[in-house]
Amino acid sequence: MISFEGKTVLITGAASGIGKACAMLMGSAGAALALSDINEEALAKLKAELESAGIRASISYHGLDIADEDACVQTAAAAAAFHGRIDHLIHAAGIYPEALVSDMQAADWQRLMRINLDGTFYICRAVIKYLGEDSSIVNLASVAAHRGSFAHAHYAASKGAVSSFSKSLALELAPKTRVNVVSPGIIETPMTIDLLKQKGQVMLDSTPLRRFGTAQEVAGGIAFLCSPLARFVTGETLHINGGLYIV
Ligand code: NAI
Repeated sequence: MISFEGKTVLITGAASGIGKACAMLMGSAGAALALSDINEEALAKLKAELESAGIRASISYHGLDIADEDACVQTAAAAAAFHGRIDHLIHAAGIYPEALVSDMQAADWQRLMRINLDGTFYICRAVIKYLGEDSSIVNLASVAAHRGSFAHAHYAASKGAVSSFSKSLALELAPKTRVNVVSPGIIETPMTIDLLKQKGQVMLDSTPLRRFGTAQEVAGGIAFLCSPLARFVTGETLHINGGLYIV
């Protein structure tokens, strides 16, 4: 129902979970795809998977450590050069390590902030000069940003910062570019396998819709925010969490 024909989407964290579901959905809707991830081998497989699923839009892929500022600059430039433009950035790369604050080392904190927060700044800044009219950015926060997360304080702090960074960027990039946040609850992806093994039932019991979300359901919300259906939406957070956290 939503067409992205003639649009180019740069996706970070494209090799897995939510990023991969975005590639499938946006590619099916006609978008040209610039796929990036630290796992370049998985990107090559994804490109083949997309092609065998009949997605005919042009696809490039770029190995990228999101915590590396220069690599973000190079990836944005390479994607813009390959496709001629970048219309949407979907920034889904991130990590979710477990540690109590009392056990957490400064190095754990800094590594997480480099990837989840510094990376957000690097890739958003890197794409700005390539974004045209009616462009958009969608960053991924988390329910953890809003209600905290046991044994993931660094993760929750990074996602709170991604959220407020995105609101500020929405003010700076308007009216040309809209910037929004998607804040998922518990979504079944490789990121949450361990969490669900440990606390799946507790999480299920506290989710009013009584199931976990799928990566495809999050991708649907992201596609909506990139699409013309959301052309008057900026600086907003879309919660996709089955009622786990109701604002
Ligand atoms: P995932 O683990 O399936 O995918 C994350 C991707 O990021 C992987 O392909 C990984 O290789 C890539 N990545 C990790 N470090 C990187 C780095 N330094 N540079 C570039 N790429 C890197 O995770 P999922 O579930 O798809 O998460 C996507 C986003 O959604 C993340 O930002 C996550 O924090 C957020 N989120 C996920 C939730 C969930 O329940 N799955 C809930 C709330 C937020």
